[in-house]
Amino acid sequence: MARVFSGIQPSGSMHLGNLLGALRNWVAYQNEHQAVYCVVDLHALTSAPDPAELRQSTLAAASMLLSAGIDPERSVLFVQSAVGEHAELAWMMECTVGFGELRRMTQFKDKSGRSEFVSAGLFTYPALQSADILLYDTDLVPVGDDQRQHIELCRDIAERFNRRYGDTFTVPTHVIPEAGARVMDLQNPNDKMSKSLDSPGTVGILDDPAVVARKFKRAVTDSDNEVYYDPVAKPGVSNLLGILASATDRSPEAVAEHYTQYGRLKADTADAVNNLLAPIRDRYLELSAEPAEVVRILETGAARARSVAAATLDRARNNAGLIPRPSFHSPPDGSDTGTKP
Ligand code: AMP
Ligand code: TRP
Repeated sequence: MARVFSGIQPSGSMHLGNLLGALRNWVAYQNEHQAVYCVVDLHALTSAPDPAELRQSTLAAASMLLSAGIDPERSVLFVQSAVGEHAELAWMMECTVGFGELRRMTQFKDKSGRSEFVSAGLFTYPALQSADILLYDTDLVPVGDDQRQHIELCRDIAERFNRRYGDTFTVPTHVIPEAGARVMDLQNPNDKMSKSLDSPGTVGILDDPAVVARKFKRAVTDSDNEVYYDPVAKPGVSNLLGILASATDRSPEAVAEHYTQYGRLKADTADAVNNLLAPIRDRYLELSAEPAEVVRILETGAARARSVAAATLDRARNNAGLIPRPSFHSPPDGSDTGTKP
């Protein structure tokens, strides 16, 4: 059975891009694979969120994943900072990745260009992300298109580490959906939909159905009034076609054949999105009444994650020449293997 791993930041509220680009694949993978999903709160620290907000949004993100269909019986769901091995392996990743490689990351260039204070953590972010992935002997990483470069870097890091120190890590592959991999902002269809920008062109998973309908109605298109799929020449219309295609499991080109008017396309896209969001909103409301249940799920998930992560970290430490950890650091089940399973 292939191992699947992915993560999502708890900052801001989740949006349609997260759902179509990533979460729907996460849910699908639980059936046939060993899936491990993580709320990456350490990554969120790179932008110094308010502590109370971070606490709240970490639990909210976990509730949202459960609402979107992550089943704790079939998947491991946990919070990154609960498993200390992530931060520890991240250091070894920082010593394996090149400064020049990190400097070429487009997410770093975008985010550092937008903020006044640029933390070193924002720069080394992909090293922590690589640790996340490699700790679980991950084969597949389902993500949106914006993470392609980070996963490719993770492969390079894993291969370099294996060359230096002998076979230690599984080299992972990204899985990016055909439609929905890059959901754009409805107001600025040249920018990707994002939770940090707080734009009226972002469709929140928890948005009221009437709000969703209004956001699609006001979506920016163009003035030539022809419906066809061409993300470069027609970014707004193509974004609507991509969303509707993803929400109804078709290709954007096939969807385009059914439309001659923008108004109809917008209304049908809003309806399809609302159909997708309705059950998620309902489950989220139910779960909000049971915060202790969410905490319990995360605790169980962290214990399961740690038993895998600790063995991988020990293998990496051993291969790199760090002497064994004192036994009080061993995982509760005592698994302290120096070999790859
Ligand atoms: P983030 O919200 O940045 O932690 O992203 C979580 C997941 O959602 C990652 O796999 C991203 O690639 C994916 N994602 C974020 N924004 C979008 C978007 N606008 N379109 C498609 N996928 C996205
Ligand atoms: N960097 C990812 C994002 O911004 C989140 C993330 C952290 C991640 N660790 C991961 C995604 C590991 C996939 C695998 O979306």
